[in-house]
Amino acid sequence: MPLSFRPSQNIARLKESATLAVAAKARALKAQGIPVIDLGAGEPDFDTPAFIRLAATAAMDAGATRYTNTEGILPLREAIAADANQIQIQGAPVTAAEVVVSNGSKQSLYNACVCCFGPGDDVLIPIPSWTSYFEMVELARATAVPVHGDPANSLKVTADLLAAAATPATKGLMLNSPSNPTGAVYSREELSAILELAAARGWWVIADEIYLRIDYEGRAVSALEVATSRDNLIVINGVAKAYAMTGWRIGWSIAPAAVSKAMTNFQGHTTSNAAAVSQHAALAAIADRAQADEAVSHMVAAFRQRRDAVVHALSAFPAVRYVHPEGAFYVYINVDGFRGADDPGAAFAAAVLDEYQVAIVPGSAFGTPNWIRASYATTESVAVEGLTRIATCLTTPATESPR
Ligand SMILES: Cc1ncc(COP(=O)(O)O)c(C=O)c1O
Repeated sequence: MPLSFRPSQNIARLKESATLAVAAKARALKAQGIPVIDLGAGEPDFDTPAFIRLAATAAMDAGATRYTNTEGILPLREAIAADANQIQIQGAPVTAAEVVVSNGSKQSLYNACVCCFGPGDDVLIPIPSWTSYFEMVELARATAVPVHGDPANSLKVTADLLAAAATPATKGLMLNSPSNPTGAVYSREELSAILELAAARGWWVIADEIYLRIDYEGRAVSALEVATSRDNLIVINGVAKAYAMTGWRIGWSIAPAAVSKAMTNFQGHTTSNAAAVSQHAALAAIADRAQADEAVSHMVAAFRQRRDAVVHALSAFPAVRYVHPEGAFYVYINVDGFRGADDPGAAFAAAVLDEYQVAIVPGSAFGTPNWIRASYATTESVAVEGLTRIATCLTTPATESPR
């Protein structure tokens, strides 16, 4: 008798990605030859800078085709530590022993969740938040506790909001600045208050800083810079977003040596090392600071220009409320009450795709169904056209919509 698949307890609560339905529909429309403006993407539209690609080719030719240490090649871990020490860290400099390289920051986040949280633990997740935090915490068999951000403060949480949501079972929290999906950036003071609270309560802080360099007002600070102690801090970063290297799959954690050892052990039994050639590409990105800074500032300047253009386009629609994006490459738009739907974000995503051929991500993917996320990681004219259509759809009664 054929074995019928019943998902194990491990994945029983895993939800299908809320972005998939819209993405599948957008693909179907494109296949029919309908030109869809795709603002769903979460990745830079730039190619990986040439000097990084060349470094990868040279590394491959030189034999970087074999297993490496699980935690990554030493020169890369040293370069990551040196890069972290460029900022004003309080306390001892970061060392390579605190760095574990993984297959994308997503894996580092997951490794951190599995190693620090388990059954019986509550983990505070400020929402809206990047969709995978919930699933990672649940896969670690801990409980994800959503903490709503303040709509009057760019949907950010404060130390007080976190303290009010805490229980004796609280073991840690996830932080993300600049934020996906809002583009909001925590100020030094906001971050400092949260880190102080966490240190006082003995909570782990997993700080996801993947968008740190995509910062338009110069306000984004690393938790490494603000924390008075790193004993309870795990900082996650990677090359995907800032260096346009999503497909290379390189991320890392900077964590206390004991945590790094546990994460290495866990990774050693799951995936082992990240691809050797990708590690060498990342080494070029981190260590060749002059070329990297030039490439990154060029891309960030382009993102900033698009951000400005998109905000300018939205200014023609004063009724449209959105979080002012200070970093990353997303605009988070309020769609409260859209056509009276129970899930206004999902209803809006379906309508704007059907009627205006724009693909976006509904806010339910990020824990806030009254919002939608549009990415401007695309050309300026496409981003402006897409956002204009979104604002038009939002402010046009259903009876007057194109379909
Ligand atoms: C907030 C956030 N963290 C982590 C990731 C994962 O990045 P990586 O490609 O390094 O795994 C993403 C990607 O979308 C993200 O938006």
